[in-house]
Amino acid sequence: MAFRLAVLVSGSGSNLQALIDRLHGRVAGVEVALVISNVPGALALERAERADIPTAVFPLHEFPDREARDRAMAAAIETAGVDLVVLAGYMQLLTPAFLRRFPHRVINLHPALLPSFPGERAIADALEYGVKLTGVTVHFVDEGVDSGPVIRQEAIPVHEDDTAASLATRVHALEHRVLPRVVELFAKGKIHPPGPGSRVVRVDDSQPSEIDW
Ligand code: GAR
Repeated sequence: MAFRLAVLVSGSGSNLQALIDRLHGRVAGVEVALVISNVPGALALERAERADIPTAVFPLHEFPDREARDRAMAAAIETAGVDLVVLAGYMQLLTPAFLRRFPHRVINLHPALLPSFPGERAIADALEYGVKLTGVTVHFVDEGVDSGPVIRQEAIPVHEDDTAASLATRVHALEHRVLPRVVELFAKGKIHPPGPGSRVVRVDDSQPSEIDW
């Protein structure tokens, strides 16, 4: 059975590429059904087109406000019959109206160990703070900034001689492994959202990955 993804992107799309290379048409019925960007001309859109994946662009300035833009985006996602919405470098907040349409079906990738260093410059913030470990978080999206329940985290050391660029290289390499694995677990029904009043996500990671790394 197919497990269809909408992937939302704003930039280079290296994580989209990881999903295409590792999962799309290969593992657990995962198909990237639709790639959506708020940025016309984003490199991520080219990556989707090269893989024959439909794309759509919803720039904010073409709509009266964020809610109208998100309504149009949600309609496109519903039409595509999507099981999971993945934010992979999507740099805008989603409105509550959007999130209500996909309860526990929107996840975000963040390049730090949340709740430390939310926001858009997480890697530089972690380096400047002087933490000795940083990493990657995948979490459910709620109405706040990088604040939803954590699904998976993996850590790497910060080296004494790291620059923002060298640290970013290692964080991105980790992201390219963590995000496909989380989507694989979703597709296999191994991720259980928190119940009422809880933030705790249960993840059954007992079976080996089928991804050909
Ligand atoms: C990734 O590092 C992702 O974690 C980050 O944007 C980058 C996108 O890279 N997202 C955030 O900072 C969200 N707060 P990519 O376009 O090459 O996949």
